[in-house]
Amino acid sequence: MSFYTDVLNYEKVKTLAKDIDKVDLAGDEIIKDPHLAAATALSIYNNPEITTEALIEAGTRRKKAYRKNNIIGFVPIYLTNHCDGECKMCGMRKNNDSLVRQFSTPSMIDKQLKFLYEKQHMRGVAFLTGEYNDGFARSANAFIVGYALRRALDFGFKTVYMNIGSLQPEYMAIIADFIKPEDRHRVAMCVNQETYNETRYTRFMAQEGDAFKANFKNRIDSHDSWSQMGFVSHQIGSLLGVNKDVGEEVAGLIAHAKYLMSTTAKTVFFSLPRLNPALGASNKKIVQDDALIRVIATLAFIAPESAVMMTTRETKELQDEVMPLLGCLAPGTPEVGGYLDDPDMMPNNEKVAQFRISDTRMPRETFERVEANTEFNILDFVSEDNRAERELVANH
Ligand code: SAH
Ligand code: TRP
Ligand code: SF4
Repeated sequence: MSFYTDVLNYEKVKTLAKDIDKVDLAGDEIIKDPHLAAATALSIYNNPEITTEALIEAGTRRKKAYRKNNIIGFVPIYLTNHCDGECKMCGMRKNNDSLVRQFSTPSMIDKQLKFLYEKQHMRGVAFLTGEYNDGFARSANAFIVGYALRRALDFGFKTVYMNIGSLQPEYMAIIADFIKPEDRHRVAMCVNQETYNETRYTRFMAQEGDAFKANFKNRIDSHDSWSQMGFVSHQIGSLLGVNKDVGEEVAGLIAHAKYLMSTTAKTVFFSLPRLNPALGASNKKIVQDDALIRVIATLAFIAPESAVMMTTRETKELQDEVMPLLGCLAPGTPEVGGYLDDPDMMPNNEKVAQFRISDTRMPRETFERVEANTEFNILDFVSEDNRAERELVANH
């Protein structure tokens, strides 16, 4: 069984969706079958008679039933901006001669972990890199990222993520060698498929056509290999704007999440990045706010057992608007060494970054404000209350 070979099938999902005439937004039933769930999501998303307000209400209710008032938090650390990929939308693409390339030393990694742990009170962290073509570079990158993951766990981070391109079993084995068996459930592999349309994918992710990243199947199969290696936490995603048919992305994401949940997955995150400006790439916001909100609400309604995430690619206003639908909020900057010197704001410099962000508040500020002004509680972030209590205990 593989998602690519046995499940991914937009034609089938569209045909099934035609036969769905009414979906009960007040219902509690969670559809587990990947095709039926995808068809239901597609029919809701495309039905003009279902208002976005109604969808938000239904998504909020069902998400709350699963996640209570908890939202998972984490912060990304970019280890390098070197990359062999040729993705047209990305500042890190190999042929971007204007980007200043950077690479983290072990002490840069430690310093940022210490800062995020002690000063930002984070307990969730992600590592990001480019994707590399030859076997040695892929192995070396797995080694570096395995080292960083292990360092973060040893430091006391509770949940660690990596977003380093597609991974095959031989590279996963290098990473797994750094992780104690009892820590495996704490490690999430993040591989955004970017688009579930293979034709659009190939057009966007290839220049000469020989980048490893340009291989659609290899990328999607990473998630099957990850669960076969005994890991249970996955982040899938769609880069909104690459495919004009947003419904195809909704269908693909739901089918993929439900399929993974039907195998061994315990947690599936949905990342929904929109094309942000990047050095030398004319990225237009093709998917408007109302469409993005509709996607988020549809996913929260059909897959409330999964977690829709949002990042600082989006403004703080939009983050606030969709907060009740979110399972995960990940503020950060796509710059190497972005948290080295205790800044007031996160750096946001196109000359070195993967793309520009819309919200430069520090993670701590974002999370403290959410906890102070809403009913939500951030997981993998130490709340102000708990900090005060611990200091009191320490002082006695
Ligand atoms: N090199 C790895 C990690 C990429 S960073 C890989 O390609 O998988 C994580 C995600 O950032 C990518 O998967 C993509 O969805 C997103 N991204 C790339 N360029 C972007 C841009 N210009 N604006 C917003 N998101 C972008
Ligand atoms: N790009 C990754 C993702 O969307 C990691 C990430 C999380 C990120 N938050 C971010 C990147 C903020 C840049 C800025 O899954
Ligand atoms: Fe490289 Fe990933 Fe950017 Fe593509 S999206 S150019 S693989 S960093």
